[in-house]
Amino acid sequence: MKYRQFNNQNISQLGLGCMRFPVIDNDNSKIDESHAEKMIIYAYENGVNYFDTAYPYHVGKSEKFVGKVLKNNNIRNKIHLATKNPTWLAENHSGLFKLLDEQLNNLQTDYFDFYLMHSQNKFSWPVAIKNDVFKFMDTIKKDGRVKQVGFSFHDDIKIFKEIIDSYDWDFCQIQFNYMDENYQAGIEGLRYAASKNIPVVIMEPLKGGRLSTIVSPKMQSLFDKHNVKLTPVELAFKYLFNMPEVSCVLTGASTIEQLTQNIATASAYGVGDLKENEKHLLSDLKEFYTSRVKVPCTGCLYCIDGCPMNIPINVIFSFYNGRYIYENDKLTKIQYPLHVAENRRPDKCIECGQCEEHCPQKIDIIKQLKIAHEEIMSIK
Ligand SMILES: NC(=O)c1ccc[n+]([C@@H]2O[C@H](COP(=O)([O-])OP(=O)(O)OC[C@H]3O[C@@H](n4cnc5c(N)ncnc54)[C@H](OP(=O)(O)O)[C@@H]3O)[C@@H](O)[C@H]2O)c1
Repeated sequence: MKYRQFNNQNISQLGLGCMRFPVIDNDNSKIDESHAEKMIIYAYENGVNYFDTAYPYHVGKSEKFVGKVLKNNNIRNKIHLATKNPTWLAENHSGLFKLLDEQLNNLQTDYFDFYLMHSQNKFSWPVAIKNDVFKFMDTIKKDGRVKQVGFSFHDDIKIFKEIIDSYDWDFCQIQFNYMDENYQAGIEGLRYAASKNIPVVIMEPLKGGRLSTIVSPKMQSLFDKHNVKLTPVELAFKYLFNMPEVSCVLTGASTIEQLTQNIATASAYGVGDLKENEKHLLSDLKEFYTSRVKVPCTGCLYCIDGCPMNIPINVIFSFYNGRYIYENDKLTKIQYPLHVAENRRPDKCIECGQCEEHCPQKIDIIKQLKIAHEEIMSIK
């Protein structure tokens, strides 16, 4: 395992995400505990020292399970434990503390090494501020329940910078992979945080698994053309480990075989190891994936500002396009309802047309949104 300096601590460049443990009967609330425990121990024994869970993962079961495994194997104090406060569930300031205490109890510990305000965006962040999240973070750091505070993020770069600039953060966590360079915080956000010496933890390094397979002979021919023998997964990780601005990459491995491969990749490659032919392949892969786009939305967000129903137009098109680009219906079906709230879906569109007036790509948004929504909702 290779390690990186993260606020003067040696953190493994691969962290274990605890959101996609193997499950029984396809039921996300039933963790396959014996398999998942082997994964945690294998990760620990092979140098992974950063473990990332959160209150809602596995329908509330991840924290309790991870706490049990760390305690039973006597490794809690030998690793860095990260979890996240679901700020949107707190009704007021004291609600934030109530959640923290519940989480300490779940994880059978009296402190967290890393504690994030979970999944911040333009809706959750103002609520967190209303509940005086800054005072909350100051207090829990001072009394020792939390060593370092950060936030995890899913929204556009403007909001990312606003949040970064609002507090003296110890770290942050963003979705990032070679296809998301210009999506959400993206490469601009990564560099912005790094320029302020804020370490960045990466989630969704394989875009939730979408970048893990060769989806067509054309894609395979690109690997052959550039004479790259890496698997798509190795290439995606190597791209991230090549970047000095990245502090830790979380793997969402869902089997011990995947974890074993990803640890081997994290042990083999670091900053400066990405070769020229691999860079050319990555650029061809981006072009290849982009050529499969269904709606030419660039995510510029001009459409969003005027929408009276707050419909996340770019997010919906991103899921719709993703369906055609990565051919992974399973993920689209699971993630779409999580990212597009019921009261903000295209069936709530009042067809005022403001979005279409502002769209630089001249997309017939009203019609395409409805098609996208109906198609995704009908995935079997
Ligand atoms: N804070 C937040 O809002 C937030 C959001 C998302 C994630 N996270 C954190 O970030 C972690 C990582 O994100 P992620 O889970 O989305 O990671 P990811 O690595 O992008 O996706 C994980 C999926 O990739 C596939 N995969 C992984 N290793 C593979 C391998 N060697 N070969 C083939 N396929 C492989 C598996 O898909 P299959 O199961 O289909 O095989 C796995 O479920 C999460 O576990 C979680 O801790 C946080």
